[in-house]
Amino acid sequence: MRSSAFLVIVYGLLLQGESSLASEDQEIHVTPEVSLGDQCNGYCFLVLKPLLDYFTQLKEATDANNEMKDKINSLEVTVSNLQSQLLNSETQIKNNIEQIKDKENQIKDKDNQIKGLREQMDLVAGVLAEKNDQLSKINQTAENIPETCGSGTPNGVYQIKVRGIEPFQVPCVSDSSGWTLIQRRVNANENFNRSWADYKMGFGDLRENFFLGLEKIHRMTLLQPHELYIQLQDVNGSTRYARYDDFKIGNEEEAYELISLGKYSGTAGDSLTKYHLNMKFSTLDRDIDANEKRNCAQYYGGGWWFSACAQSHLNGNYYKDGTSEVRDGIFWGTWKDYDFSISLTFSQMMIRPKTL
Ligand SMILES: *[C@@H]1O[C@H](CO)[C@@H](O)[C@H](O)[C@H]1NC(C)=O
Ligand SMILES: *[C@@H]1O[C@H](CO)[C@@H](O)[C@H](O)[C@H]1NC(C)=O
Ligand SMILES: *[C@@H]1O[C@H](CO)[C@@H](O)[C@H](O)[C@H]1NC(C)=O
Repeated sequence: MRSSAFLVIVYGLLLQGESSLASEDQEIHVTPEVSLGDQCNGYCFLVLKPLLDYFTQLKEATDANNEMKDKINSLEVTVSNLQSQLLNSETQIKNNIEQIKDKENQIKDKDNQIKGLREQMDLVAGVLAEKNDQLSKINQTAENIPETCGSGTPNGVYQIKVRGIEPFQVPCVSDSSGWTLIQRRVNANENFNRSWADYKMGFGDLRENFFLGLEKIHRMTLLQPHELYIQLQDVNGSTRYARYDDFKIGNEEEAYELISLGKYSGTAGDSLTKYHLNMKFSTLDRDIDANEKRNCAQYYGGGWWFSACAQSHLNGNYYKDGTSEVRDGIFWGTWKDYDFSISLTFSQMMIRPKTL
């Protein structure tokens, strides 16, 4: 810089206004050959010319150098700008990375939360499945309990469900048809001279001697028409049967009255319709028979639809030898010509829905 200023001054002095100094922007028009030749001939030219040349060259070099310096300076500025930009960018990137890290942590947290929720869901699903299992088991048992004895299954004791009362067990004769046994006598192992409560609820051994119970019989015959099938056998092994095609008994308020029997058919004769249809059930402790003088149940030794008193009675005392001295045995008048000293050694009463 300084040399350039110096050069300008010297140059100016030398030219002495001959050639004016160009403004800074303009190129300096130096035409030494012509102007110097004109100004100082001979010696002056010879001495000054190389010097001027030198200065000119120096100035040119210095100018170029300055230009380079300017460029470098501007480049330096640019570089420093870029550097500061870079720094900014780096800071931003750092910030971004931190934000990303934050987000990552948040995502991790959420992941953990989701995991926790998943585990809870699995737990709940497990509990739900268990409950469902229990429910379907309950459903199954509820659905699997038939309303009556089936057919085509082995004979035996089954559980049935009749509307209005809890499921209960019944012996079924179901190998050929769906009969439900409601009464059976096979030996003297069971006492049938019992109370109202016992006849209402039922008693005995379902695989031997028993009475199913008036309430159950009522509930079963209430829902749909039932057939009644009575099988009998005497001490000599003779068998007879009596069937009725519409058997129904009333409720407890009606004293389990024998409301309906339907049409009789069979080989033992009809020992029910004439004397026992429309009769209430009587037991030794509940005398509601049609005999004003006598407690039929007490006298005959069992509960029945007594009138005054009986043409048949299958709940009497059991006599192994087939005979009873008074009329307290198991009898079916029409079969044995009203010989009430004959006591049957087997009886079975069973019912089934008529629609079968
Ligand atoms: C149980 O039975 C009811 C009625 O039959 C039915 O709507 C329900 O889906 C059953 N539930 C299961 C768990 O089987
Ligand atoms: C069983 O047979 C014997 C011998 O034949 C006879 O005396 C008796 O009356 C019969 N009993 C019945 C209930 O038919
Ligand atoms: C039935 O039981 C009652 C009371 O124990 C008794 O008085 C009656 O004699 C019995 N009847 C028969 C036929 O056994």
